[in-house]
Amino acid sequence: MQSDMSELELALARLKAGELVAIPTETVYGLAADAANLDAVARIFALKGRPADHPVIVHIASSQQLNDWALGIPADAWKLADAFWPGPLTLILRRQPHVLDAITGGQDTVGLRAPSHPLTHELLKRFGGGLAAPSANRFGHVSPTRAQHVRDEFGADCPLVLDGGPCEVGVESTIVSLIHEQPTLLRPGGITREAIEALLGKSLTHHTDSGTAKIRTSGLLDSHYSPRTHLVTGEYAHLQPAITQARANGEKLAILSFGPWAGDAATSAIHEMPDNPSEYARLIYDKLRQIDRQGYTIIFLQLPPATPGWLAVNDRLRRAAHTRI
Ligand code: TXA
Ligand code: MG
Repeated sequence: MQSDMSELELALARLKAGELVAIPTETVYGLAADAANLDAVARIFALKGRPADHPVIVHIASSQQLNDWALGIPADAWKLADAFWPGPLTLILRRQPHVLDAITGGQDTVGLRAPSHPLTHELLKRFGGGLAAPSANRFGHVSPTRAQHVRDEFGADCPLVLDGGPCEVGVESTIVSLIHEQPTLLRPGGITREAIEALLGKSLTHHTDSGTAKIRTSGLLDSHYSPRTHLVTGEYAHLQPAITQARANGEKLAILSFGPWAGDAATSAIHEMPDNPSEYARLIYDKLRQIDRQGYTIIFLQLPPATPGWLAVNDRLRRAAHTRI
């Protein structure tokens, strides 16, 4: 059941007391704590099992609070905030000196975002400060897009979950760094690269080389967002022989096809995924979690086309995969 105003009050009280609360956003659920309270932020890392040097995003109600957290904010940042906030866009900016090292991973930058989910927007307005919140999952696992996913993730250790229903976007926010003259796309997401480039009238550098990344962005780690079940991704022509082999080996197969599955369906569960990127993004994490619960031993996922509209989805699928063929 979705949370009401009295639960919002309870969430507010807990956050003010330095406790964790799982919050709904339009992208994925976040594991939130008062960003100005070191002990509270430390609880996020402990519960997630997240390495201490991975920075977390600070969530704010609106761009009016940007100056509370960032310094030397360039015109491009204001333009982006005006156009896309509240919404699924995170801006990396120079931090104010008071911002905790636990939040920035010891860097001199801070990630800021104003989420649009009405319940969390209201919570942030009433809270007044910033809420540090990574996705509400154990480190490296699939992000939660429903309140129940958060409860499944943390079990007996689960904090209060504000239930805001299923997330509309379904993949994490777009992250843009404005630290250098040339804006950089650190993570593709709900706001497309094209929309950002059109607004700024300049092209974004796309940060893809995770192996040499100097900026510690956990979403840039090669293995991330992974289901427990072994996930194999590829094009149809490559998957087909691997599927035949897996069947011969007695594996329990799930197939996530892109549109109708062209191959034979014998002994496999076929899940047909939508051919629209927004719908695909909304469903994919829930689908991976469902399959994880159903005792399959291997998932074969037929990749969507490598076109710009599929950038965010393909990015997550590439990182979620245990094997790419
Ligand atoms: O949609 C989202 O962004 C969700 C919701 C809850 O807002 N949050 C989310 O948080 O995905 P998390 O922690 O799972 O991923 C945030 C990413 C991480 O890869 C982190 O390293 C990066 O943002 N990040 C945060 N602050 C940064 C900074 N100062 N410089 C570079 N990357 C940063
Ligand atoms: Mg995450």
